[in-house]
Amino acid sequence: MLETFDAARLATAGPRTLSDVLEQGRIVYLPRCPVELPDEADLDVLRDQLAGAITRKNVSYHPEADSVRGLDPKSPLYPATYRALTRLRLNIAGWTQRTMPDLLRNADIGTCSFRPMEEAGRAIDAHKASELIHVDAGAYGATNGDRILRFLVNVHPTRDRVWASKGDFRSVFARHAGRAGFTGPNGHIGRLEKNALDELLSALLKGVSAVVPLAKVLDTSPYDRAMKRFHDYLKDSPEFQNEIQHHVEIRFAPYSAWMVFADGVSHGCLSGQHCFIWTALTPLANAHFPELAPINVLRAAA
Ligand SMILES: [Fe+2]
Repeated sequence: MLETFDAARLATAGPRTLSDVLEQGRIVYLPRCPVELPDEADLDVLRDQLAGAITRKNVSYHPEADSVRGLDPKSPLYPATYRALTRLRLNIAGWTQRTMPDLLRNADIGTCSFRPMEEAGRAIDAHKASELIHVDAGAYGATNGDRILRFLVNVHPTRDRVWASKGDFRSVFARHAGRAGFTGPNGHIGRLEKNALDELLSALLKGVSAVVPLAKVLDTSPYDRAMKRFHDYLKDSPEFQNEIQHHVEIRFAPYSAWMVFADGVSHGCLSGQHCFIWTALTPLANAHFPELAPINVLRAAA
């Protein structure tokens, strides 16, 4: 599940080496984050003071609004948070574009967020609880089948971030499509392609987002709704959450980084604190193995 790229292996990687690993449903582990991190002074502000000031479970820089959500713009912590998130966002974009040029072609570079809270035992809404294992569905708006690439950095100075997984999307879907109501005698996947009404809604939201930038996050598509259905099934299903056969735990060391297609690998965060999460949508058209993309796994099953 984990494919480690230390500096020596990174130096000899070709333009498709890392993206092939990601497309095949594995996690690229970078023992030492290869991207320049924010200044230590800004990192200290984020680690020491942010948890008491945030209004959501994380703070996120949203490029379409050029602002940080989850923190009062008048907060004295805002400038350091804005600076750290915007700089890191550009640094990761540059590194991923250089390292995986084919995958990142015309990618939509999205949010960059920071999670200052301890993940273990957090009492929040079950569908939002990140410790329950799931595959991601939607990322600040509709994906329309494009892939949700995440780059994460553990900046806790001494503690690992711990994930659990029960395999890649293909294998999880193969085991659970019936119970989730997607296949079988009464199952249905439904249509995955947009119809005229879907197109109209997307066009409307695009128009509104010219005035209200965050309206973009309301966009959806039949594929994204199907993924949300599967996401909710996974989080609600004791059969899936308690499945021990395919369960693996993964530890990410302090100052390490990792990349994953969050729609293509099941994951839950068991514990850890102080993590950056960068997101990009990479076009389905860039895939080297399109048949492994969730939308095509669903199309094949439909
Ligand atoms: Fe997730």
